[in-house]
Order: sequence, then C-alpha cells, then structure tokens
Amino acid sequence: MSPVIEARALTKRYGGLAAVDGVEFSIRAGECFGFLGPNGAGKTTTVRMIYCASPVTAGDLRVFGIEVGDRPREIKARIGVCQQEDTLDPDFSVRKNLTVFARYFGIPAARAEERSRELLEFMGLWERKDARIRELSGGMKRRLAIARALINDPDLLILDEPTTGLDPQSRHQVWDRVRGLRRQGKTILLTTHYMDEAQTLCDRLVIMDHGKILVEGPPVDLVRSRVGKEVVEVEGYPPGLVQHARQSGWTFESDTGRLFIYTDSGEAVFTVIAHQFPSERCTVRTAGLEDLFLKLTGRELRE
Ligand SMILES: Nc1ncnc2c1ncn2[C@@H]1O[C@H](COP(=O)(O)OP(=O)(O)OP(=O)(O)O)[C@@H](O)[C@H]1O
Ligand SMILES: [Mg+2]
Repeated sequence: MSPVIEARALTKRYGGLAAVDGVEFSIRAGECFGFLGPNGAGKTTTVRMIYCASPVTAGDLRVFGIEVGDRPREIKARIGVCQQEDTLDPDFSVRKNLTVFARYFGIPAARAEERSRELLEFMGLWERKDARIRELSGGMKRRLAIARALINDPDLLILDEPTTGLDPQSRHQVWDRVRGLRRQGKTILLTTHYMDEAQTLCDRLVIMDHGKILVEGPPVDLVRSRVGKEVVEVEGYPPGLVQHARQSGWTFESDTGRLFIYTDSGEAVFTVIAHQFPSERCTVRTAGLEDLFLKLTGRELRE
C-alpha cells in the first residue's frame, strides 16, 4: 500500500534559515505518527507544508500520492487540521463554528447540522453547543478545534500540539478520542511536547531538531536501542564517580549537580554507587522517551 504521506529531501527556507532541512519520512495509512522536537525544531513548518498552507522550497512531498504543489484542493478536502494556535471564530457559537466550517467543504446544511451534533457529542461538548467561544475553557476550545477538524470526515487528521495547556482529565479525554479515531482507520499526525502523549499514542515518531530528523521509529524500540533499559539518576555524588563511570565505559551525562547513567543493568550500577560512591540520592528507573529526547537534543534552553 502506498504511504499516505511521503517526504523526500523536504526543505523549507525562510530567507537564510532552513526551518525544515532535507527531511525524509513516510507515514502509512492507519498509523498515528508523531513529530517531537524542541521549540523551533520545524514541526509546525513541516505539517503546514503537508496541509498545503505553506509552499515547499525544495524536495518532494506527496500526500495521498499527490504532489502537494499539483492538486492542493484535492489534498485539503481529505485532511482535517487542528492548528497549534486557536483559530476558532469568537463571534460564533460552538455549534456555528462547526456548521460554518462545514460550508467550506461544500457539506449541505442538513448534513452539516447532523455531523456537528455527532462531533460535539463525540468530543463531550454537546451541552455547550450554544455557548460563545469566549465562555469556553482552554480545554473545551481544544476539543472544539478537534471536532471542527473532523467535520469533513478526513482520512488524515493533523493535530499540532492538541493538548498543550490542558488539565490531565482533558488530556486523557483527547487521547481516548484520538485512539478511537485511529481504531476507525484514520491516519493521524501529531506534534507534541509531552513525552507520555507520544509514548501512549504514537505507533512511530520522529525527533526533530534544527530542521532535521534525528531518529525515527516506534517509541519503545527507539528508547531501548538509543538509551537502554534503565536510567540511574544520582544527586550529591562524590567527585570520584564521574571518573569511575568513564573508566567503566558507562554511558552517562551530567547537568548541574546530577548524573544520568544509561544502562541495561540498573541494579548493578546502583549497587556499585551505593557501596563505593555514597550519594545524597540515587534512583533507578525505566528509561523513557524523555531520556531519549534530552539525550538527542541536549539540556540547553531553546529560543
Ligand atoms: N513564517 C515564518 N517566517 C520566518 N521564520 C519562520 C516562520 N515560521 C517559522 N519560522 C521559523 O522556523 C523555525 C521552525 O519553526 P516551527 O514553528 O516549525 O517550529 P516548531 O517545531 O513547530 O516549534 P514549537 O514547538 O515552538 O511550536 C523557527 O526558527 C521559526 O522561527
Ligand atoms: Mg509548532
């Protein structure tokens, strides 16, 4: 089966800045694919090219097998987008935000009403159908934006940071709906800064930085192959530990005051530290996506 999205040497330049710098990826039908990366990595720029909102500078980008520059209308008709920033219309009610949007897709009025009701129920917003946008909480607005992205029953759903700023309950509700959509067979492209979100939702993901893709794969495999099984985190350790770590060939990193040792045998490392390098705090935990993310993109602040 041909991929839903295929990018080859995809590049976007803004003046001298390569915001997306020769990336290659391929997204299969029915999978949830994640884009992770620090602020300014190029995630939004990449997805904007996919939904034909921003022209490609160089390289190839095919969506549903169509080159994005060729027949953008055909592509847009089959995509639903929930943008990073709020683009709801503040002058309209909740329900009207959906029905007006449906018109852009040429959906007949009666069908638009029906579809809006289904989607508001699906996203748990039916009781608020007559509310004004300004009366909604941040979480409700995000859910409405997702409902709106589904109005044309898209094959591909693009969610650019769908849960930023949401409380844990709302995030879990959104995750639950995303899983439901995936079960319905929709292809989902998601950007996020939440590692748990990527871990729980994404079949595969990429981590980007400075416009380039650093790694690609299923989250569990990436963590296992690039970080290891466990992380030993040490605080308030004696200076000799770093030298010992080096001599023992451990893979490790440090920030101010903490040492992170990436290993497949956390207990053994822990025992050595406990006996030979008594520290204020030493914990062994399972390695996760955040460890991989920080290992690849560093601990320095971005723009
Ligand atoms: N319209 C534009 N004109 C000039 N530069 C831009 C434009 N849009 C984005 N950029 C730059 O391109 C780079 C990538 O931005 P992008 O918005 O794709 O990052 P991102 O990975 O989505 O970041 P975030 O996590 O903060 O949303 C940044 O350096 C940004 O300043
Ligand atoms: Mg962004």
